[in-house]
Amino acid sequence: MKVQWLEKTKEQNLYEQVAERLRALIGEGTLQPGDRLPSVRKLRQQFSVSISTVLEAYRLLEDEGLITARPQSGYYVKHILPVPPALPQISTPPPRAYAVDTSVAFQVRAAMQHPEIIQLGAAISSPDLFPSQALNRLMGQVMRAEPQKVHGYGVPPGCEALRHEVARRLMDAGCSVVPDQILSTNGTTEAVYLGLRVVTQPGDTVAIESPCYYGLLETLAALHLKALEIPTHPVDGISLEYLETALAQGKVAACALVSNFSNPSGHCMSDQKKKQLVALLNHYQIPLIEDDVYGEIYFEAARPKAIKAFDTEGLVLYCASVSKILSPGLRVGWLVPGRYQGQVELLKIAVNVTTAIAPQLTVAAFLANGGYDRHLRHLRRAYQTQMARMTQAICEYFPPETRVSRPQGGHVLWLELPPHFDSMILYREALERQISIAPGIIFSPSESYRNCLRLNSGLLWSSELDHAIQTLGLLAKQQLARQFLAQTHESSS
Ligand SMILES: Cc1ncc(COP(=O)(O)O)c(C=O)c1O
Repeated sequence: MKVQWLEKTKEQNLYEQVAERLRALIGEGTLQPGDRLPSVRKLRQQFSVSISTVLEAYRLLEDEGLITARPQSGYYVKHILPVPPALPQISTPPPRAYAVDTSVAFQVRAAMQHPEIIQLGAAISSPDLFPSQALNRLMGQVMRAEPQKVHGYGVPPGCEALRHEVARRLMDAGCSVVPDQILSTNGTTEAVYLGLRVVTQPGDTVAIESPCYYGLLETLAALHLKALEIPTHPVDGISLEYLETALAQGKVAACALVSNFSNPSGHCMSDQKKKQLVALLNHYQIPLIEDDVYGEIYFEAARPKAIKAFDTEGLVLYCASVSKILSPGLRVGWLVPGRYQGQVELLKIAVNVTTAIAPQLTVAAFLANGGYDRHLRHLRRAYQTQMARMTQAICEYFPPETRVSRPQGGHVLWLELPPHFDSMILYREALERQISIAPGIIFSPSESYRNCLRLNSGLLWSSELDHAIQTLGLLAKQQLARQFLAQTHESSS
């Protein structure tokens, strides 16, 4: 390695000179957003300076917002957009409860089945991002080690080995639970279904964020529940003021939301807000179904806490799975049902007795074998890079008025176009060109958000994706131009 000598000058300390060299490398693009900076040891040798000088330089660049530290991984160049797009506005859904119609969501889901379609509409990941080979190997080992047990029924709480690993991982989310308080489920979807079903009766109203994950709306529809949309901020989630008004009016039987990097809008509630929410729910004795399926996919230094971490009365039913981090197909998820544990276990027996044993043991083995944290670090970086590339492409190709969410985790982006834009038209036009998107109306029981859409950034970035965003941007611009011409024609005739 070539040593570059630096000398302290009157104007600049050594660490400032190191920082300046790195700044130049970032500025000229040699180090790109998402790239890892050289290790402290390597840089120390390269500039022949002390470790503390390098650390000081890194601290300076961190303060300037150019780089970010990731625990046990190193320093990375941050993703900075020259001019970040404006954020979507705070939502203002109609203040009444709706029965849920999921027919449009059903059509959109059907389009997701075709492999030739570019899947920007489904919240899915490139299979290359998941450790499928390692999981297949572990599944084989599990089948050989437990040739009969894997074919048995098992009992509702699920495999002890999995629940033990989940309890261990939940400590990072601020939750202290023991394996006995956890129930294995078939993904988050079943956990949410079981939770909602034990805390509500058909006809009840559930308070939800707005926009809201359409899978939750499908569950509400299946349980004959109504949905009350609560205004939601694009950065820190539902309005507690509106929620409190609804709770005080006695209109709401339960609350259900995605606590971290929500789908579709990407917001993440602050700890302070999570604590206030729990206090509010405790006051009115209203249960909360917490979906934390994206909690492990954070881009900043630490995992955000679960709302469950602040639960003092067992009113929070915590749901999550490995679908976004290891494999959606294994259908391994879990539920921490708090005070509803007995009812949930009985219901689980009635619904499907238990979750298949082999997938549970496979996931337990992967979580226990030590490669999990490395995998997560890699996955978070990939999701973050993909999201930054997609945001850049949206800024480049979409109409300049487009507002875009800025999630600090997860892998979906929420786009808001001018009020008269119709994302159902864009959906149909895009599908003719083999691109799927998720139109805004499927995220709202009141069919708000016709001018919005959700894009999936879970796929590895490629020129094909760049081209797909370019096509969508062009179609959006053409639609707005048609509207403009129609309006000018109307006003001149
Ligand atoms: C917010 C949210 N919850 C739940 C799910 C489904 O999770 P699972 O595969 O664990 O059932 C998804 C999938 O997209 C999701 O986005």
